[in-house]
Amino acid sequence: MTSISIKSDDDIKGMRIAGRLGAEVLDYITPFVKPGVTTGELDRLCHEYMVNVQGTIPAPLNYCPPGYTPYPKAICTSINDVVCHGIPGDKVLKNGDVVNLDITVIKDGYHGDNSRMFFVGEPSILARRLSEITYECMWLGISKIKPGAHLGDIGYVIQQHAEKAGYSVVREFCGHGIGKVFHEEPQVLHYGRPGTLEELKPGMIFTVEPMINAGRREIREMGDGWTIKTKDRSLSAQWEHTVLVTDTGYEVLTVSAGTPPPPAFILAAGSPAAVATAAQSASCPLRSRSRSDSNRNNRPQSRPFRPMASRKNC
Ligand code: MF3
Ligand code: CO
Ligand code: CO
Repeated sequence: MTSISIKSDDDIKGMRIAGRLGAEVLDYITPFVKPGVTTGELDRLCHEYMVNVQGTIPAPLNYCPPGYTPYPKAICTSINDVVCHGIPGDKVLKNGDVVNLDITVIKDGYHGDNSRMFFVGEPSILARRLSEITYECMWLGISKIKPGAHLGDIGYVIQQHAEKAGYSVVREFCGHGIGKVFHEEPQVLHYGRPGTLEELKPGMIFTVEPMINAGRREIREMGDGWTIKTKDRSLSAQWEHTVLVTDTGYEVLTVSAGTPPPPAFILAAGSPAAVATAAQSASCPLRSRSRSDSNRNNRPQSRPFRPMASRKNC
């Protein structure tokens, strides 16, 4: 049996703040995602912004779930065939790369977890389409969220959309419950069947963060104990939001001035929460700010519940 926590009103207030701050780190870093910058520099800039400007704590730094070594940096930078958990370092971003930046901040004990995709210079047609489809997958999943729906409803629409486009869904990592704990129940699978798994109730908070591969779904882990790549070296994309189940539907918590708007077909469906998200982003459209370089598409990762044989424990 799983038990999914129902957040109190105070918890929800704290999570709104943490979510906004998490999204604002992505806004802040956007103009720096350009050819020539290293992922280590992006990490340093985000880390300083969190600590010195926001008064937040980077949740990844020294994060150490069972079976892992402590994560050494403040953010995750996952380039091209990296599925998730890329560790920032000396790697220089070059024209045509696609990179996911995954940011989780802690404010007053609450976690705000989100990620976006960025194009470095001009992306290939494939990279652009993969990022767009993955963004639509995330939003389709979010759009299913309301009391009485089931987690399987979310996974189902994500998997359908990805596979219809000829892509595959990574199975080993999932979305997750989140609050004062970074990764808690439930696991939010990005594949599945409608009407299965836990029923959603108002006050639940979890992430939706599909990792979609252009090729096969299999992954491999690098020797650093964190970085995950596609086994066939195909491109992988991910986007992530933290979302609250409300009495009538959902509220995206990781929203800032620069949050990309939901896809038009989500807006057309008329969810009040989706419209609210779009209205907030309208004041600062990501595309015009980021010019031809950086952009959207992104990834998330939620990983922690990966059943792993025991390895190096912290
Ligand atoms: N932010 C990731 C997620 O979406 C988790 C990163 S764990 C880290 O769940 F240690 F790699 F940072
Ligand atoms: Co994340
Ligand atoms: Co997450």
